[in-house]
Amino acid sequence: MFFDTHAHLDDERFDSDRQALIEGLPERGISYVVNVGADMDSSRRSVELAEQYPFIYAAVGVHPHTAEEIEDSDLDVLLEMAQHPKVVAIGEIGLDYYYDNSPRDIQRKRFIDQLELSIKAALPVVIHSRDAYKDTMDILTEYKSRLKGCVLHCYSGSWEMAETYLKMGFFISLGGPVTFKNAARPVQVAQNIDLSRLLLETDCPYLAPHPFRGQRNDPGLISLTAEKIARLRGMETEKLAEITLKNACKFFKV
Ligand code: NI
Repeated sequence: MFFDTHAHLDDERFDSDRQALIEGLPERGISYVVNVGADMDSSRRSVELAEQYPFIYAAVGVHPHTAEEIEDSDLDVLLEMAQHPKVVAIGEIGLDYYYDNSPRDIQRKRFIDQLELSIKAALPVVIHSRDAYKDTMDILTEYKSRLKGCVLHCYSGSWEMAETYLKMGFFISLGGPVTFKNAARPVQVAQNIDLSRLLLETDCPYLAPHPFRGQRNDPGLISLTAEKIARLRGMETEKLAEITLKNACKFFKV
């Protein structure tokens, strides 16, 4: 049984079949899902999904892409949402210098604001970082002792940097990219990570694992990612599923 620690089931790509898809997840081996917000609306919808389905939990937060859209008052709204018993993390938050959809100084400000918010809410954080490795590391290094837990979601950095994050006590989450034919860095991470710090995710509807790359992803496809990592580690997929599910339950206090 699997724990998908990062899904966006509120995405419009699930509008046509959301209910049927979600109701079918337990029989496809999915025990838990954390649905992750990316802006105010999707954070609200994540909480709604968590209220509707016992095995779905929510993370609330504003993605660096939309950092520019939020106002100070939204932080109060997020803090209020964070009090909901099924909200288990603040995320996804971080920095994205690949797309640069929001100015970098605003991305950094809202990232730090939401790290502060996670401390107030006593919740762990889910980090998105793309092409912003140094700034992400600098900011998280400053906050590490005050955070209630931290996971680098869909980790795409080097193994060397992963080692630094692991030493800081953080978790690393791997998804579909570890199955891609040209995968290098995530494979190296999968081969070397202490399994007690590994989480699995889909980031659906994005990043579908091989052989579904480019198609709509969903939590049920997480088994393909788990199979690949289990193969890299020379272990049974069931054992990896069991370990990573336990890790996620501990991390999110589910
Ligand atoms: Ni995501």
